[in-house]
Amino acid sequence: MHKDESTNPSFTSKVGLIMAAVGSAVGLGNIWKFPYIAGESGGGAFLIVYLVCVLLFGLPLLMTEFIIGKRSEKSVYGAFRALSRNNRWQWLSWLCLLATIMIMSFYFMVTGWCLSYLADALMNAFSTANDLEAHFAHLSGSFPRMSFFALLAIIFTAFVLWFDVNKGIERLSKILTPLLLLMMIIMAVVVLMLPNSNIGMRFFFDADFSKITPQVILSAMGQCFFSLSIGLGVLITYGSYMPKKQDITATSLQVVLLDTLVAVLAGVIIFPAVFAFGFDPAEGPELVFVVLPAIFEQMSLPWLSSVLFFTLLCIAAITSTISLMEAMVAFLTDATAGRKHPLNRHSAVLITVLILIISSGLCILSVTGVKWLTFGNWNLFDIFDKISSCLLMPLSALAMALFVGWTLPKSAIQQELHTGHKRLSSTIAFVFMQIVRYLVPLAILAIFFNEVYHLIVG
Ligand code: PHE
Repeated sequence: MHKDESTNPSFTSKVGLIMAAVGSAVGLGNIWKFPYIAGESGGGAFLIVYLVCVLLFGLPLLMTEFIIGKRSEKSVYGAFRALSRNNRWQWLSWLCLLATIMIMSFYFMVTGWCLSYLADALMNAFSTANDLEAHFAHLSGSFPRMSFFALLAIIFTAFVLWFDVNKGIERLSKILTPLLLLMMIIMAVVVLMLPNSNIGMRFFFDADFSKITPQVILSAMGQCFFSLSIGLGVLITYGSYMPKKQDITATSLQVVLLDTLVAVLAGVIIFPAVFAFGFDPAEGPELVFVVLPAIFEQMSLPWLSSVLFFTLLCIAAITSTISLMEAMVAFLTDATAGRKHPLNRHSAVLITVLILIISSGLCILSVTGVKWLTFGNWNLFDIFDKISSCLLMPLSALAMALFVGWTLPKSAIQQELHTGHKRLSSTIAFVFMQIVRYLVPLAILAIFFNEVYHLIVG
């Protein structure tokens, strides 16, 4: 069956779309990745570079994806073809699919870690574990435990997608996303009342510009793409469900603001706690899984704070896995529509689940140290993570910016960015066009060349 006007799935409310997009954006990237990258790259200095990246690239690219989705009413597979009337941009949809599968492979694994930690928190396991480092090493070395929880995450996500988008994704996001924001604010207030919390706040907010190297800029840009879910077409898919009357500029601004607020709140929760209890802020990925449980044990309500924190982490992760899997499901139904064996939503969900079981399974095996799946110092998790956020996502974002900036007619962009106020709309469209035509492509290329130059020159 072709996806035409009447069968095209759609969210029923503007708030639903915003909550789903914020749910996608706010995820492990904000709560787990942002604090440790910031911790490793010098705190406040990184924060400033990150904010500049968000404004310069993040916001316009979010708008770019929404424009492509809303205008075409198609998934990533059909969107470029629908808007360009030829197949010249089709490779971009495959690039997006590849990156989406890579990200899902490790994202479900880490979501599994979160679920496993939530189970531990509920059973009060951190108070009896005398070595939390070993506790984490035990989890990341256990194939059965990791695969059990990753599978749980996959099945739950698939269950939500089993329903139509407005009954499953929209309804759940409207509950979970506000709940997540509320829980984050409560935790930040609790942590700020700890003694010595000002040292952590100073570390997070004081800017040391000598720490800003090209590597830091590249990782800030990668983090910005990852955190805003840019460059995979996930937001093209959500854009295709956007109610026709929704204003793209205002929606994108709200998503960017809320996503950045959560990343900053995560830093506000984590760093003061880290300093108050004398830990090292540059712990790496283990920050959330080793340092935080240790901190909770020393706080006044250990059980409640760890359950609250890991619930929050799980909610953040699941609303993101939903958007990732939805992008693939929509891709499959779109790609097979009108063919001999078109896939309906349910079979597309089942196929996606099968592919994920294999790809996450390989990723989990590799993390447990299986030799034939480790390459030098790198396991599949590191490889998928680096290739997708530092290469594929910026590359496809670059291509999407060129696509919208140079192939869509100006009138189409003006129409999509219409806010209801004529002068304002044309100013926004003008600035937007300059950014996606020149600034975004040049900046992404410059950062790439710089990286390659440093690789060669050393
Ligand atoms: N934005 C999510 C996060 O911050 C990750 C994600 C990336 C989700 C790309 C969807 C698409 O964790």
